[in-house]
Amino acid sequence: MKTKTTLETETFEEVVARRIERRSFLKGMLAAVPVMVVSAGSLGNASQVVGQARNKAVNSAVNASGTLTFKPIGLDRLDAVKVPQNYVSNTLLRWGDPILNGAPAFDISNQTKQTQSQQFGYNCDFVAYFPLEVTFPLKEGEEIAVSNRGILTVNHEYVNPELMFPGYTGGAPTLSQAEVTIAAHGMSVVEIQRTNGVWSYIQNSSYNRRITGETPMQFTGAAAGDDLLKTTDDPTGTQVLGMFNNCGGGFTPWGTVLTAEENFNQYFGNRNAIPDSDPRKAIHARYGLPTGASELKYETFFPRFNLATNPNEAFRFGWIVEIDPYNPNWTPKKRTALGRFKHEAATVTKSADNRAVVYTGDDERFDYMYKFVSRNPISPVREENFDILDSGTLYVAKFNDDGTGTWIPLVAGQGALSGWTQAQILINTRGAGDAVGATKMDRPEDIERNPVNGKVYAAFTNNTQRGTTGLPGTNAANPRPVNRHGHIIEILENNNDAGAGSFTWEIFMLCGNPRNLGDRTYFAGLNSVTARRFVSPLSCPDNISFDSSGNLWIATDGMPSNLPGNDGIFAVATEGAERGIVKQFLSSVIGCETAGLFITQDDRTLFVTIQHPGEGTTLANPSSRFPDYNQQMPPRPSVVVITKTNGSPIIGS
Ligand code: FEO
Ligand code: CA
Ligand code: CA
Repeated sequence: MKTKTTLETETFEEVVARRIERRSFLKGMLAAVPVMVVSAGSLGNASQVVGQARNKAVNSAVNASGTLTFKPIGLDRLDAVKVPQNYVSNTLLRWGDPILNGAPAFDISNQTKQTQSQQFGYNCDFVAYFPLEVTFPLKEGEEIAVSNRGILTVNHEYVNPELMFPGYTGGAPTLSQAEVTIAAHGMSVVEIQRTNGVWSYIQNSSYNRRITGETPMQFTGAAAGDDLLKTTDDPTGTQVLGMFNNCGGGFTPWGTVLTAEENFNQYFGNRNAIPDSDPRKAIHARYGLPTGASELKYETFFPRFNLATNPNEAFRFGWIVEIDPYNPNWTPKKRTALGRFKHEAATVTKSADNRAVVYTGDDERFDYMYKFVSRNPISPVREENFDILDSGTLYVAKFNDDGTGTWIPLVAGQGALSGWTQAQILINTRGAGDAVGATKMDRPEDIERNPVNGKVYAAFTNNTQRGTTGLPGTNAANPRPVNRHGHIIEILENNNDAGAGSFTWEIFMLCGNPRNLGDRTYFAGLNSVTARRFVSPLSCPDNISFDSSGNLWIATDGMPSNLPGNDGIFAVATEGAERGIVKQFLSSVIGCETAGLFITQDDRTLFVTIQHPGEGTTLANPSSRFPDYNQQMPPRPSVVVITKTNGSPIIGS
């Protein structure tokens, strides 16, 4: 018998109608608008109804000057970083650039573990800027002054060996190639300076550091020392070598960086060698570890990556790692209290009673969104915060269809977790989320708090399996079946307190092309006429960031498969008459994603990471030659710096 999917039981129009009802209930704004029965294919009308309450203001103000005054660019397929008129893009750091004292210059034909360990790594992702000449934590109301010297921390998420090594044979690396790629992971910590408005990096700075897949790290928090973290190499379960697949991240009020291990599963091989009777096998399956050989074949050279002989090593990855960028000798800490999953983002904010709150998501189809709230308040003494993320409560989000939501605590002995230890919850966090009935989301990516209105914005990049046969159907928080374009949810914690146990939420944006009815887009209540006229099409929101005026900046990952343009950066107002009007700010190069973005506190600099340029092709004939556009040079993942040509802030006139 054919299974009836949610696709068939609930139409998108019905979901939208429910949203209209909820908005009416919550805000009283649409009380006069009848909840219409929207006929199939008339989504444009539905969007129009949702937006009616604000039409007047929007229509009269779309041309007024707001803070986002740049002239939007359009979709573009050129192999070039394109920005609006009066802005300029410069490359600051490239894969292979020498970072440490004595590091050799980049030479693609002479790569070793040693050279790569001293050079800028591959596939840069999350980027954060830490000013020098500032004392953390900042006092209430204190802002970081315009800073011309700082430290950049840059994640190196993964590798594309087919674009790194001449003559690379897919799926069959040599030992030396495997060693180089392990060294190309992790993080670079690099001092940079601004001279006459131009940023450059300082080779040999004493702050500079390379953290790789082999850097010694420590486990802290309730899971540290648990049996599942013990291996032959580390019988204490407290020490581990390296971090992998560091994607998103965050920075703390006490001036450390948090970096998020995401798709760690891909580095391990041979799950099927574990007997079915061993409960570890099911956990590894829930986390998607390969049944046979891995793509990078590390397990053939290094036993720790072989699940057949080392079934616990994989439990030592998938964590949030804290690093002090101001101290190159600091041992990185894997903070187990924040749970283990394919971490995307680690955005830190403060609760009303000054505790540290960390928002983090699990970037998998049908997985969950989380937050951690520390037990202790943030101390005015910087070093006293170095253990603050080890004690507290991890929560998982439940989004109710009526626009309310609950943070369900993941605490041993409570409710559905009565038979669990806290270490089990932290190591098999997905299983704990399953047990308590958290809401299955469309791939949680970045989560950020708006510095102006305090609301929390979460990007869900896409989920083309939503509502397909045998898989979960739509819910109000994930309203589109076969969600190709992704969406953004706007969350208001109760009393605007990040420490709250419940929240209200609404869809901020259903991405896509507003000119294409089939995309079923929604842009913060704009009516369809306004959206078609003024909104830049975008797809697959990933990393997000705010400028100081509370405009949301969105980097995309996956545009070309859905829209005729390279990935890019888009900005959108979250308040006021221009709320919802998306404007394209940057178009990136061929085959890349615009992975990380960071706006400095003075709004004058936007750092952007260009990850995997040329992906999908090989070194013999790459689709991108960014950033050097030299036939002798490969495409190189890089950090670029966007400034206004006159040096003024990138927002405003
Ligand atoms: Fe590495 Fe979730 O993007
Ligand atoms: Ca990401
Ligand atoms: Ca992504």
